Amino acid sequence: MSNRLTWYGHAALGLETGGYRLLIDPFFTGNPAAATSAEAVTADYILVSHGHGDHVGDTVAIAKRTGATVISNFEIVNWLSAQGVEKTHPQHLGGGFKHPFGYLKLTFAIHGSALPDGSYGGNPCGFLLTTHDGRKIYTAQDTGLFGDMKLIGEEGLDVAVIPIGDNFTMGPADALRAVKLLQPKIVVPIHYNTWPLIAQDVEAWARQVEAETNTRVRVLKPGESMEF
Ligand code: NI
Ligand code: MN
Repeated sequence: MSNRLTWYGHAALGLETGGYRLLIDPFFTGNPAAATSAEAVTADYILVSHGHGDHVGDTVAIAKRTGATVISNFEIVNWLSAQGVEKTHPQHLGGGFKHPFGYLKLTFAIHGSALPDGSYGGNPCGFLLTTHDGRKIYTAQDTGLFGDMKLIGEEGLDVAVIPIGDNFTMGPADALRAVKLLQPKIVVPIHYNTWPLIAQDVEAWARQVEAETNTRVRVLKPGESMEF
């Protein structure tokens, strides 16, 4: 059974693996790039990388409607519980856990994590998932470039999902350097073209990555999926 990654626009991702449906940073309401809605999606698990509104997004509503288990850092999980989310699993940076869908480790990210109401959201994270069939996917979510991406790359990545939008996260030039550190088989760019502030020429970036590295770039349209 293969694994299916869907980009819903901005940093919202869907992952179907081992018969489980995961949503990552499900920001649909108010997301001009959203390819679906909070009402239309289903999930067994929701992963939240940090507290910003464009990542927590519709987590509370989707979790309440679907009964999905939300996985995030300890601080965000506590905040979600106070909002009425019943099923949660706290982890923290550097820590992994064998969930039914695979082994999920929370990775370092350089960013902020204040929650929408100003509450403290702990440290932001990325996600490194080893699937039931041994595939490794790293989703960086919001981060600047950091040298320890090399350590994540040493895990042997099938897929890396990284931001290229600049301004709030890595831009194209640093995202190219990230690909050189991560050395994934496939890279998927996210967190661009949602708003004019993070508009990027993704095709030009893809050409440069493929010219300078052995990584294949998979540019998805919002709503589009790929198997891995
Ligand atoms: Ni953010
Ligand atoms: Mn963001």
